[in-house]
Amino acid sequence: MGSSVEVKIYATPKKVVKALAKEIYQFTHESKQKRFDFALSGGTTPILLFDRLAKKYAESLPWDKIHIWWGDERCVPPDSEESNYKYTYDALLSKVPIPDENIHRINGEENPAVEADRYGKLIDSQLNMRGEWPVFDLIILGLGDDGHTASIFPYQIELFEYERNCAVSEHPLTGQKRITMTGIPLNNANRVFFLVTGKNKAMRISEIMNDDDAAKLLPAYYIEPQNGDLIWYIDEAAAELIT
Ligand code: 6PG
Repeated sequence: MGSSVEVKIYATPKKVVKALAKEIYQFTHESKQKRFDFALSGGTTPILLFDRLAKKYAESLPWDKIHIWWGDERCVPPDSEESNYKYTYDALLSKVPIPDENIHRINGEENPAVEADRYGKLIDSQLNMRGEWPVFDLIILGLGDDGHTASIFPYQIELFEYERNCAVSEHPLTGQKRITMTGIPLNNANRVFFLVTGKNKAMRISEIMNDDDAAKLLPAYYIEPQNGDLIWYIDEAAAELIT
């Protein structure tokens, strides 16, 4: 069982990201670490968080110590409107004083299998290890309305036992190839924050929080950091079906 699981519910998405950003500020400032490795989620939900960090923490977070990774990326070029890197660059990285060498983009334009191997090896070469696996200081995850997280989709629960820290996956509806971090490194993090907002996520949130049988089909259900803290940052719309 992980160290702790918390569910923090706020009235609006804005209040959710305000609290999450403040938590990042607090733990980075309380720590004497010389380096922090963060893996970010993709999709559109975190853009509000990126805006908050850019607007309120450009001068107060230790950006020179923060290394940015991604939990997953679409296999598209970095200037594509679907690129998780582009979302993050436009909303955050272009607005804070983070050194270029601290930004570790998944090269979505490359051959997926080759890039998954490269990125996995790069993570291993740079991060602290716990056992055989890299340790992220923080992984931010989203929740798809089919219960996927990172780019681990419901048909690929076996990626939670996968022997490599990155894999190639495929979106079940669009067929879009993705590169994703796999379950063991996700669960090896010191902190995992789920950031989930919106009514369209309420059913999956309730299945997971109510520990319904249906939850066992959802990749997000298997996120349970063994040596870290799991905090769900959600808004009231996403929480409305929790009993
Ligand atoms: C991705 C993400 C994915 C995302 C969820 C939620 O590349 O799409 O990493 O796991 O977090 O699909 O996406 P939204 O925030 O856009 O709803």
